[in-house]
Amino acid sequence: MKIGVFDSGLGGLVITKALIKTLPQYDYLYYGDSAHLPYGDKTSGTILNYTLQAMKYMIAQHCKLIVIACNTATAITLRYIQQRFIPIYAPDVKVLGVVIPTVETAIAQNQTHIGVIATNATVHSKIYTTELLKLNPKCTVTEIAAPELVPAIEADDFARAAEITHRYAPYFGQCQSLILGCTHYPLIKDYFRRELPNVSIISQDELMGEKLQDYLRRHSEIETMLSKSASREFTVSRSDCHAQQVAKILFEDIKICQAA
Ligand code: DGL
Repeated sequence: MKIGVFDSGLGGLVITKALIKTLPQYDYLYYGDSAHLPYGDKTSGTILNYTLQAMKYMIAQHCKLIVIACNTATAITLRYIQQRFIPIYAPDVKVLGVVIPTVETAIAQNQTHIGVIATNATVHSKIYTTELLKLNPKCTVTEIAAPELVPAIEADDFARAAEITHRYAPYFGQCQSLILGCTHYPLIKDYFRRELPNVSIISQDELMGEKLQDYLRRHSEIETMLSKSASREFTVSRSDCHAQQVAKILFEDIKICQAA
């Protein structure tokens, strides 16, 4: 009875690392849909289709609690998955996303002008603006898509990622905080901090561990179902040397397997 972490690719490993650091006792299964990355430029129907396939795979692998670490998949599919898919397909499984914990963190900082940088699909969904305004109707949200960032990070081209960050930073110069609304961006959070020294950078790897811990504390009925032998499995829909290399940046002993 594992904790599953899902992402469209390898970016979600950053979130997994943070979860394992805070909650090392549980068994984890990571699944990255690397065959279909990026989700951020796909239609909602396609993103939903791929995410549902991923959920079915992870449920079959005995995941009882699934964290959709992908902002794009959270934005487009979480509501459908929680309200329509899970109640029929696997009512004893819980699926959580990354948007609400991130929004709660931003609002808790008491800031009124909040920036969001994310993929095209996440920005077009307006999920961050909607959820931020629900918690604080007075806040101003500047949401901008940076579609070039994920390909640069996936290609391990951090010089290019730094250049792109430099180009986007001025849009957020007036913000008090900036949400990095994409699983890949924690890898370049220092670039944002360097470009925007007066803006509080909200990076999901720094908040998800605590948020999940808090969730499990409040939901003992789920916590008690989870197995605790500290096992880790890392799977992707398409494994290659590049995937292994990128994963090694985050986990020393990682072995990424192709999902069966
Ligand atoms: N994982 C996606 C996200 O957090 C970024 C990569 C993609 O476009 O699939 O939005």
